[in-house]
Amino acid sequence: MAVIWGLAALFIMSFIGSTTSQSYKIGAMYGANTNMDNHYKELFVDATTYINRDPEFMNGNRETLNVYNYRPIAGTNWSLPNAPQALRAACTFASSVDMHGLIVPSDVCPGCSGHTGRIVGNAFAPVIALDQASGSKAYKMLPTDSDLLELWVSVINHYKWQDFIFIHDGDSAYSMAWILLEMENQNKWHVVPYQIYDEADYAEMAKDLKKRRTQNYLLFLHEEERLPGFVNWMLDSGMFGDKYHWIFGNLEPPISRQFLDDKLRIHTSFLTRFKMKIVEGVESKVLTRNPIPTRNWPFRERTAYDSMLFFAKAMTVYREENGRYPEAVPKCGDDLSSQLGTVMQKVSYEGLSGEVAFNSDGDRVNYTINIFFGKDKHNIRQAGVWTQNIDHYERKYGEKWPKNTGRLHMTPFRQSDPSYIKILSIEEPPLLMLRDHDYTRARRQSSDELGLDRYYGIIPELLVYIQYIFEHDMGMEFKYKIELIAEGYYGKRNPNTGDWDGMVKELQDSDADLAAGAFTVTQAREEVIDFTKDFYKGNIKTLIKHPNWVRDFPFNFAFAHDWDTWLVNLFAFGITILVFWALMRFHPLEYRKQSEIGQATREQSTEFTLRNVAWMLTGVVFLRGHKLSPASIAGRILLAAWFFFSLVMVFTYMLNLTDFIAIDKDILTINDPVDLLNEPLLKIGMVRHGPTHDYYSMSSKASDQQLMSIMGVLDRDPFVERMRDGALRVRNDNGHYALVSEELLLTYYTQSGPWCDLYIVGDPVKKMKYAFATPSGSPLRDQITYAINKLKQNGTIKELVEKKWFGDQKCEEESLWESESVLSINANDLEGIYYVLAIGLVLSAIIFFIDVLCYWVFGSCSSAGDPRPSNPRGDGFTMTLNPRDKPRDERDYGKPPEEKSPNLWI
Ligand SMILES: *[C@@H]1O[C@H](CO)[C@@H](O)[C@H](O)[C@H]1NC(C)=O
Ligand SMILES: *[C@@H]1O[C@H](CO)[C@@H](O)[C@H](O)[C@H]1NC(C)=O
Ligand SMILES: *[C@@H]1O[C@H](CO)[C@@H](O)[C@H](O)[C@H]1NC(C)=O
Repeated sequence: MAVIWGLAALFIMSFIGSTTSQSYKIGAMYGANTNMDNHYKELFVDATTYINRDPEFMNGNRETLNVYNYRPIAGTNWSLPNAPQALRAACTFASSVDMHGLIVPSDVCPGCSGHTGRIVGNAFAPVIALDQASGSKAYKMLPTDSDLLELWVSVINHYKWQDFIFIHDGDSAYSMAWILLEMENQNKWHVVPYQIYDEADYAEMAKDLKKRRTQNYLLFLHEEERLPGFVNWMLDSGMFGDKYHWIFGNLEPPISRQFLDDKLRIHTSFLTRFKMKIVEGVESKVLTRNPIPTRNWPFRERTAYDSMLFFAKAMTVYREENGRYPEAVPKCGDDLSSQLGTVMQKVSYEGLSGEVAFNSDGDRVNYTINIFFGKDKHNIRQAGVWTQNIDHYERKYGEKWPKNTGRLHMTPFRQSDPSYIKILSIEEPPLLMLRDHDYTRARRQSSDELGLDRYYGIIPELLVYIQYIFEHDMGMEFKYKIELIAEGYYGKRNPNTGDWDGMVKELQDSDADLAAGAFTVTQAREEVIDFTKDFYKGNIKTLIKHPNWVRDFPFNFAFAHDWDTWLVNLFAFGITILVFWALMRFHPLEYRKQSEIGQATREQSTEFTLRNVAWMLTGVVFLRGHKLSPASIAGRILLAAWFFFSLVMVFTYMLNLTDFIAIDKDILTINDPVDLLNEPLLKIGMVRHGPTHDYYSMSSKASDQQLMSIMGVLDRDPFVERMRDGALRVRNDNGHYALVSEELLLTYYTQSGPWCDLYIVGDPVKKMKYAFATPSGSPLRDQITYAINKLKQNGTIKELVEKKWFGDQKCEEESLWESESVLSINANDLEGIYYVLAIGLVLSAIIFFIDVLCYWVFGSCSSAGDPRPSNPRGDGFTMTLNPRDKPRDERDYGKPPEEKSPNLWI
């Protein structure tokens, strides 16, 4: 019973309400898309319900605002084929009832090249157009073409894109493409407009786009509804892979957060998106039956909702000003000026699509767009603001707009940390070095909270210049922090899993914004991260111990003959002495026998003692003749044979000799590190996972791979962990270890002292490029490239690379004499010979003293048991090595010379 009474009361009240309150109508048209599932109709119904309940609107709800829905007139359907039909449909609709405004979506007339809003907007007033409608009297909920273009252009210039592809779907986007083309010269870029047609062409198109080398895409679809389908297609064909950067030119395209979260989560392209800035709290006020939260609505749905609210607001303001509502507009006409229109140019309303306000042309003004960019999980971070009206922005938000930035203000790119750009590096002199502990402690109180003064070297100085260019030339902040990577290497791919490690992985995961160091550009790496333009090109060379400092075995000259050969020769020498002596002693024709019969002098008969024979044959080895030749044929033959033997021995020895003395010079003439494989005594090494190791292990050249495999065979552990260890090993291994690396890095060790005993060899055969690396598609890639190009042009980079980083310890530059003489045989190589001479000198001196001593003590040392008194002349110093110099009369011709000779020595 109560229910029936209640219903009756409701009926009566609604009856009274409908009789006492006036209902005002806003017409809403629909196209094929907007009509679908009555979605937009419900939206407008929600909006009017909200309006009619909120006392702020419509005279405290004594009057109501209602939506008046469009139906296609007979013979047409939801999608109108051309402009006359669209105009006819709109005007028929408008004149069918007295309405105060008309809302026109973009899809009413797909055949009107995107100008439905404009066509209708010029025929009726007031019209709120949900499409571009540029140049018409309609009030446009979307930013005008020129504002949108300005936004794009300033963002693209901020990214320093050199070339990009503008993907569009014709209609209003077509004229944008033309304008972009016209701007090419002025902005120093290259743009390729690319129009998409049917979904059937997407596959072909993706293939075609993939072939192009461009990695930057600006996407703007007039028919926004196609965007999700298109993006999905591109995603599936890999066009949203790591190396791309996409800008979605549409304001808040109908791409769900879900999509961003699920599909663009890992290893996907960089993405830049634009979103209207919305005043906080607006969303919670809004009334709707739609279960989806309003912030997740597609932008056009929000503009539709706002357009209804804006009409209500304008009506309310008009009523407040004039005491009554404006007249309804009866029908279409050429020269319409609605009463409501004058208010609409003044009113401003905070809606779901940002601040809604129009200027006298009906262009949307005073709104602000937030810019989001990022990659993977970071793509929801806000990166900048663009405001349509700087004055308004400053007044509304009470903030000063940054100077000299135009209407775009981009916060610097920071992906991994909100407050600074995170730069990864590795300690690698001279690119990056750490100051010592004392220095750091002394400076700790300084203002540098990011700890930049801990580092010095090429990279830190280069970054200061880059920062300068960012801040003074590009007008962006560049606040950065250098972090040394924990694992300590650059990054290589695990061949089994295909995963990367080191700095590459950090970049790939977007956990850092930039990597700087001796980061070598390789093709494999370029597949997963991006490189800026290289700042340095260097050669792969080899570090060896300076030959002058290599401590060889001092008697290496003995190596020219084998050990066996020496022994055999010594044996041959001994035999020959014995045979020769015997021959001379017992041969009847020789002097000894001859003197017995008076045919030779006594002097001659004592010539061929054992000692003299040994001395004589030794002399022959040095190609020296002797005073007396053997008299017999047998003796002469023997001597000739010895002579010939000696000749061959001496010359073979000499021919071989230089190789052994200059053993360490060969290496100076190598060009390619691969040539090192021909050096038997040399082990070749590299820094594990250093730039050169990476280069070789990623190289596909056969000779490079050969070097890598043989290197491991020659030495069980050819790798060192750090460059410094490598230099130390070269230094300590006495010329038997050579470190292959890049010249700039090696130079540091040859020049930094304090030993200065290292030397770099090799010709420029293999070049390596060092560049900054960024996550794929990162805007920093093109921005840093821009800065590097500038610094290259004015010579700053050259200066930095050539700068000496070594303080007081630096090694002197080599003089001409030094550099030219590395190949010559030096005292160091000949060390052993000097030892031989020295030994000879010392020995002879010792014997000299022994002899002198003997002479004074015993009178003579020639024979221990000789009772003869000392030299009758009393002059010990007349004693000589050569018995021939003795006064003739003192000789005892009858005795064996051994006993008569004044000393033991030959
Ligand atoms: C309605 O639209 C469809 C597709 O645009 C078209 O094929 C059809 O002919 C239209 N019908 C009428 C009655 O105009
Ligand atoms: C837009 O902002 C300017 C500057 O604050 C202001 O003068 C103007 O009235 C605003 N326009 C509208 C329609 O609110
Ligand atoms: C090169 O340009 C940078 C940045 O504009 C500047 O700091 C530097 O002094 C210039 N160097 C030379 C040699 O002109």
